[in-house]
Amino acid sequence: MKSSYLNLCTEFYDLTKPEAGPKEVAFYEKLLGTAKGPILEAMCGSGRLLIPLLRGGLVVEGVDNSSHMLKSCQKRCSDQGLAVQLYHQSLQQLDLPRKYDLIFIAIGSFQLIQDRKEALNILKNLHSALLPAGRVVLETFIPWDAIKDNINGSVLMDESKERLFERTANSRDGSQIVHQSTVTGNFKEQIEKTQSRYEKWIHELFSQAEEEEYTVRWYHRFEMELLLEKAGFSAVRIIDESFEQNEQAFVYVASKPREI
Ligand SMILES: C[S@@+](CC[C@H](N)C(=O)[O-])C[C@H]1O[C@@H](n2cnc3c(N)ncnc32)[C@H](O)[C@@H]1O
Repeated sequence: MKSSYLNLCTEFYDLTKPEAGPKEVAFYEKLLGTAKGPILEAMCGSGRLLIPLLRGGLVVEGVDNSSHMLKSCQKRCSDQGLAVQLYHQSLQQLDLPRKYDLIFIAIGSFQLIQDRKEALNILKNLHSALLPAGRVVLETFIPWDAIKDNINGSVLMDESKERLFERTANSRDGSQIVHQSTVTGNFKEQIEKTQSRYEKWIHELFSQAEEEEYTVRWYHRFEMELLLEKAGFSAVRIIDESFEQNEQAFVYVASKPREI
C-alpha cells in the first residue's frame, strides 16, 4: 500500500506549496513550448506546476499514483475552469492511451523511486510512452548542504544525524495541520529517509493523524546519464537552474532516437 501522498499530506502540500513560482513556471513554459506533440507531466501531484502551465495556455496531461493528490488536482483545475486529462497510474505500470512528444518530471519527484532497477524500468516505460524523437525532462537535485553537514573531518559519515522538523499550516477554515518529520540519511548510499506524522486540529481540537514514510535517492551526473542511455535515450542535455522550490536544480533533457 502507498505510504505517502495520502489525505493529510495532500492538504498540507496544497497549503504550503499551492503553486510553482514564476521562475519555475517560465522555465517550463519555454521548454514545453518547443514540444511538437502532446505533453505529459508524470508524478504531477495536485497540480502545483501543472495548474499554472494550463492557465498559461499549454495543454498538458498528468499522471500520478496518489488518488488524494489527483483528486485535489482535479478540483483545483475545475475551480479555475481549466480542463485537464489526468490518469491514476503508477509509473512502474504505465499504460496510457496515447504517446507523447515530451514527458517531464518536476521538483526531483523521480528521486522518490529509491530502487535503481525500478528507476531504470520507469525510464524504459517513459521511453515507450514517447513518440519517436520525443523527449524526457527530469528535474533533479542533490542535497549538497546535508552532505556537507555529514562530513566529519575529511570523512563522509555512513549514517547522518537525525534531523527533526516541525511546521504548521493554517487553513482558511480555521483548521491547522501540524507536520513533524525526522530525516536520516546514508550519504554513501545516496539516500535520505523521511518519517512524518501529520495531525489535523480543528479549532484546537484533535481531528485525525496520518503517518508517512518515503526515501529519496539522488544520482550524480554520470550515473544519471548512464541510466538514461541504458533506457534507450540519447543526446542528453543538462541545464543547471535555480527555482523557487529547488534552488540547485539539475535538469536532464534526453531524446528518444527517431529510428530504433
Ligand atoms: C513531490 S510530489 C510532486 C508533485 C508535483 N509534480 C509538484 O511539482 O508539486 C511527488 C508526486 O509523485 C507521485 N508519485 C510517487 N511515486 C510515484 C509512482 N511510482 N508513480 C506515479 N506517481 C508517483 C506522488 O503521488 C506525488 O504526487
